Amino acid sequence: MTHAPTSPRRWLATALLSLAVLALPAQAAEIELVIEADTPGATIHKNVYGQFVEHLGRGIYEGIWVGEDSDIPNTRGYRNDVLAALKELQVPLLRWPGGCFADQYHWRDGIGPRDERPKRVNTNWGGVIEDNAFGTHEFLDLAELLGADAYVNGNLGTGSPREMAEWVEYITADGGSTLAELRRRNGRAEPWRLHYFAIGNEAWGCGGNMRPAYYVDLYNRYASFVKAPEDNQPRMIASGGHGEMTEWTEAITSGVEPNWSLRLDGIGHHYYTRPTGEWETKGPALGFDEAAWFATLRQTLQIEDYIAANKAVLARNDPDGDYGFYVDEWGTWYDPEEGDDPGFLFQQNSLRDAIVAALNFNIFHEHADRVHMAVIAQMVNVLQAMILTDKEKMLLTPTYHAFHLYRPFQGATTLPVRLSNAPEYRHDGQAIPGLSVSAARDTSGNLQLALVNPDPNAARQVRVSVQGGEATRARGRVLTAEAMDAHNTFGQPEAVRPSDYAVDVRDGTLVLELPPKSVMVVAVD
Ligand code: AHR
Repeated sequence: MTHAPTSPRRWLATALLSLAVLALPAQAAEIELVIEADTPGATIHKNVYGQFVEHLGRGIYEGIWVGEDSDIPNTRGYRNDVLAALKELQVPLLRWPGGCFADQYHWRDGIGPRDERPKRVNTNWGGVIEDNAFGTHEFLDLAELLGADAYVNGNLGTGSPREMAEWVEYITADGGSTLAELRRRNGRAEPWRLHYFAIGNEAWGCGGNMRPAYYVDLYNRYASFVKAPEDNQPRMIASGGHGEMTEWTEAITSGVEPNWSLRLDGIGHHYYTRPTGEWETKGPALGFDEAAWFATLRQTLQIEDYIAANKAVLARNDPDGDYGFYVDEWGTWYDPEEGDDPGFLFQQNSLRDAIVAALNFNIFHEHADRVHMAVIAQMVNVLQAMILTDKEKMLLTPTYHAFHLYRPFQGATTLPVRLSNAPEYRHDGQAIPGLSVSAARDTSGNLQLALVNPDPNAARQVRVSVQGGEATRARGRVLTAEAMDAHNTFGQPEAVRPSDYAVDVRDGTLVLELPPKSVMVVAVD
């Protein structure tokens, strides 16, 4: 056998190949993932995919509500393009009117003929005039149009127990009371279904700067007077902590004693992800480097510590699991857009936001036993939005697409997964998990698998097998893009959107390749 002399070009190619092989450390090893389909866990509450609309910036006015006389095509005042996109998203729950705005909102301002409603200053958000065109009827009709559970946040900060009690009566009373008649005169014959009602918002801050023990006393007092018909009882929510706090869970679960006239079903917590971790300078929504990408993902993953710390308190004070851990505000919060009113909290939304969303979904699934609700802030034009509008124009954000990919997980049953060769994503001497996964059996009986690759530099090869079954066919969708801050604009509204992924099925095993910085959802038959 003779050996052909090695040409310099061939030598270079061989050397590069060897280098590439050497540069493929453990990270490139194929990851083995086993879905334990025979040991189902908790059910993922559909309301983990909840949405939030507040009287803030262009979140409601322009974003959803344009009024019946607008040139923007609308249905009874709601813009048609936004309504259609939200219906497609299958929004399970809608929270309103705040946020901080809730504790300055007096519900009687927002009923009756619109041209007679009072004008107020929105002191929380930009000092703009609030003309109350969007009120109780407009919100509850919207929730009905979308088929979403209605979550109303009551005013504890500046309202009285009587005002709160009367609001709930106005919404739910089916008899001949003066408030039920008033609602009928205002155009709504039947009561609305009220699914959730909260006593105040962020009581530790904009809701009144209270101490936990003082809030607990107020919760007991106000909640005692929230009465509704037997078949229309809202789940009652206390306002909890944020960031790393556990003292609110501690105080509420040891200080609220539900009885025949007082209920508590869940505690609402807030967790915002900021690239810097600071409130003063949070970091830009676009044009960031890998350090900011990494820091954002690391900070968002820390919500798991927050959930775990509060679950430990609940396990002690509520061993029967009666109280839900509701994350009723979460999402990214960046520096304000240049040129926009900083009080409007408008921000662009990039592939990074979609990755943040999917990482959070997987964590919520993991804690489905307690996390029965999660509400992203906010639905349109505010913070980590699904939809951005500019007058008559509208676009869907990467976060919208992440929610859309995860629709089959609403109401699904979690399934444990085992991972071997689990990779890390390392940056600048620090590491976070290099793959996040969640598996569940959806309400139609199909297996669903969600995978997130947070690493912007490396793909992931994953072999998936099903314990207690065999995969025969699978369909995937994947969301990724070239740039870390890839985003949609009104000029290019489809720059970031999911595409179909052809799953390779070999002898009952799925062979997947996740591109760098991607979210993939696979349905397995
Ligand atoms: O979502 C924006 C604001 O963030 C809410 O009004 C408040 O509850 C939180 O601080």
